[in-house]
Amino acid sequence: MAVAPEFIEELRARTTLSDLVGKRVKLVPKGGRLAGLCPFHSEKTPSFYVNDSEGFYHCFGCGVSGDAISFLRESDGMDFMEAVRYLADVAGMAVPNSAPQDSEKAEQRKQAIDALEFAAQFYQKNLDSPVGNAASEYIRSRGLDAHIISQFMLGYAPRSGLYPSLQQRQFPKELIVQAGLAGVSERDGQPYDYFRDRLMFPIQNRQGRVIAFGARALGDAQPKYLNSPEGPTFSKKAVLYGWTQARALLRQGLPLLVVEGYMDVIAVSASGVAATLAPLGTALTEQQIQLVWKLHPEPILCFDGDAAGQKAASRAIERILPLLEPGRTVRIASLPAGQDPDDILKSEGEEGLRRILTAASGILDTLWQRKFSEYRLEDARTQPGARAAFWADMRQLVKSISHNQTRTAYLDDVEYRIGAMRAALKGARGGDSGSYASGGYASGGGYQAGQMVRTRRPKTGVRVQYQAVLALLVRFPELFSDFAEELAMMQFEDNELEITKKQIIDLLIATPDLDEAAVRYHLEYSGSNTVVEDLFGSDMTARLDASFKQGSTGWTAARAKEILSEILDRLLHKTRRTGQAPSNRS
Ligand code: CTP
Ligand code: MN
Repeated sequence: MAVAPEFIEELRARTTLSDLVGKRVKLVPKGGRLAGLCPFHSEKTPSFYVNDSEGFYHCFGCGVSGDAISFLRESDGMDFMEAVRYLADVAGMAVPNSAPQDSEKAEQRKQAIDALEFAAQFYQKNLDSPVGNAASEYIRSRGLDAHIISQFMLGYAPRSGLYPSLQQRQFPKELIVQAGLAGVSERDGQPYDYFRDRLMFPIQNRQGRVIAFGARALGDAQPKYLNSPEGPTFSKKAVLYGWTQARALLRQGLPLLVVEGYMDVIAVSASGVAATLAPLGTALTEQQIQLVWKLHPEPILCFDGDAAGQKAASRAIERILPLLEPGRTVRIASLPAGQDPDDILKSEGEEGLRRILTAASGILDTLWQRKFSEYRLEDARTQPGARAAFWADMRQLVKSISHNQTRTAYLDDVEYRIGAMRAALKGARGGDSGSYASGGYASGGGYQAGQMVRTRRPKTGVRVQYQAVLALLVRFPELFSDFAEELAMMQFEDNELEITKKQIIDLLIATPDLDEAAVRYHLEYSGSNTVVEDLFGSDMTARLDASFKQGSTGWTAARAKEILSEILDRLLHKTRRTGQAPSNRS
């Protein structure tokens, strides 16, 4: 519902902003104005000023400003109309019913929706008729059954025929054009069907009404996807594909996945692995993420593992950070490069997709990792200044979180990570043998080259010990911080295992609280899958159980810690004695 601007003006005029703000912030006169501690960032001296005569507030500390309505939206999370009603109530004003031109617009919208729903049915019928044969075969070839096809109301737009049917139903030409169902030929002014020979995906609003279409070309026609133009019923920034279907699936307690494409929404929903939503060919807008949170407090956003996808993930995170609150966060899943969730389901099945969802990282983990590699910190030749810049960047980003306690918690987490990174670096500096950050610094020989020097294969017994170290570390990543120094100093005389060790160390330095599934996932997708399979093969488990007299059900973090410490001591002692790896442990 739209409210007349005059009414909003009147409402602002009748609202005393300091009364409203004063209920949440203690305001005191300061320099002829009213000031208090800013509710939008944490501070010790007041820099939040309220100007009653103009009805505006401004914080000189964090730069927020606004009026009574924005104050309620920001501080209490109300939407525009809720804020208007609240203020009208306080001011003793009645919110007027819509103005006459509004009801005219509403009537137009209603008719447009009628036309769109008629079109959706028309397309559905065509899919089932002989003209729709090719389309129907195409959908089946993508693995969709009749049930899911009808749930998503998929259809087929023939080369022509919709416009005359709409006319027969007395829908006026202007309305049909405005609804995006027909274009008008520039040559002869004749209307023609906007969607021709395409697979049709009706886009529904949150009430389940059809408000637009997405349309996929069946052959190589361009563009591959065509969306309805924006219009009275449809603003693509404000809509998510798959809302009503996702809401139904969420009642079964599934996780909520946000994907990129129509086919991904449908394929994932059909799999029953997750409820799914997608924006419409654009990056997720702020409005859309707020909508997603109406359905789930912790949706999982999916991004392609390629460079473009990772960049998109960074941008999404930077957009979401300021909005984080208790009960409003996201996780980030990274897909193998060049694959979308639909591809994963085809190649690896439901298990494959589930594994990716389980490995989804928290927002800070992802940001830390992204920035870590943006600043090229995995390359030991990188100058210390890059670390400083990385830390400053991380702190700055997290400071954009508006919600006070959330920001504090994230800042604490960043400081903890920075501390852990510094501690690990200090430990690693002791040697020059190519472990994390040590080889390149000391020898100037570069990090990649450093690790390739020794290639002879160690005796089996020693190799098993290396494997045991890695297996335990992957299984109990939380133990990493206890052994970071030893691990960084030691060099495994087996290239494959040494590289995997370095990967695990880098991973856990970048993201201290990954769990086993996440660590395994990262290793597998960074090319160490055979090593990891070895580590967790039954052979290895049996050997571990035998060497350490443990039934495989009995493994605990505490026991793993004892064993790790035992093996590391043994290995370090050996390398020190034989002088294979320098060690200046104090
Ligand atoms: N998209 C679009 N316009 C295009 C191409 C893509 O709006 N010309 C949007 C669509 O919402 C599409 C999403 O971007 O679903 C992802 O596009 P893409 O990866 O090319 O397609 P898929 O969804 O993988 O489609 P399919 O699996 O059917 O090839
Ligand atoms: Mn696809």
